[in-house]
Amino acid sequence: MAANDRDMRPDPALSEHHDVLPDGTRVFVRPLRHEDAALYPDFIAAVSIVDSRLRFFAPIRELSEHRIEEFTHFDPERAMAFIAIDEAAGKMLGVVRLHLDDDRQGGEYAVIVRSALKGHGLGWLLMRRMIDYAKAAGLKRVHGYVLAENTLMLRMCAELGFKVTSTASTNIKRVMLTLDQPASPS
Ligand SMILES: CC(C)(COP(=O)(O)OP(=O)(O)OC[C@H]1O[C@@H](n2cnc3c(N)ncnc32)[C@H](O)[C@@H]1OP(=O)(O)O)[C@@H](O)C(=O)NCCC(=O)NCCS
Repeated sequence: MAANDRDMRPDPALSEHHDVLPDGTRVFVRPLRHEDAALYPDFIAAVSIVDSRLRFFAPIRELSEHRIEEFTHFDPERAMAFIAIDEAAGKMLGVVRLHLDDDRQGGEYAVIVRSALKGHGLGWLLMRRMIDYAKAAGLKRVHGYVLAENTLMLRMCAELGFKVTSTASTNIKRVMLTLDQPASPS
């Protein structure tokens, strides 16, 4: 079914995944729910100022209730998000979002993980989850905007098959993955 013909809600049976990171952390990845707003303050407190700037393009110490509400009460016809939860501690470890473009043929992603967990494979796992979901939703492409200094994200994008291009801002790169291709490497 084309992305035009339906909203972004995934098939519940296909949308929940239990994974184990290489360091042994057991992670549950599922669609973000309204009640996950309660997990956000602890999560944002565990994100460094440097990392919040890489994600939001501005250093953020905390999110207002209004902003958390926006993140967790998105329109399912326009967006989708997956949250990663530590199965042992019940804490939010990361989140990946995908907002549909106006033509409904592609979407813009954003991803962030708890700073102490960087480099443990969770960002890769969330990106794969988002890409698989976008393919299943019939999207033709996903794209994102990444600060030029964010070499980790740019390298991960390149490894996932994204093309990196310049934007009008020398600070910001655009990354785009065309989805009418075989599955990305696992
Ligand atoms: C960018 C970010 C999401 C990456 O997540 P992460 O969990 O730190 O990254 P990972 O551990 O999954 O990946 C790190 C490395 O392992 C690689 N990797 C991880 N799992 C892999 C796998 N299964 N197969 C192959 N490569 C893998 C990645 O490509 C990357 O390569 P490198 O070690 O050569 O640098 C995270 O660092 C973050 O939240 N940063 C701050 C916010 C931000 O920058 N967001 C992006 C803006 S859109």
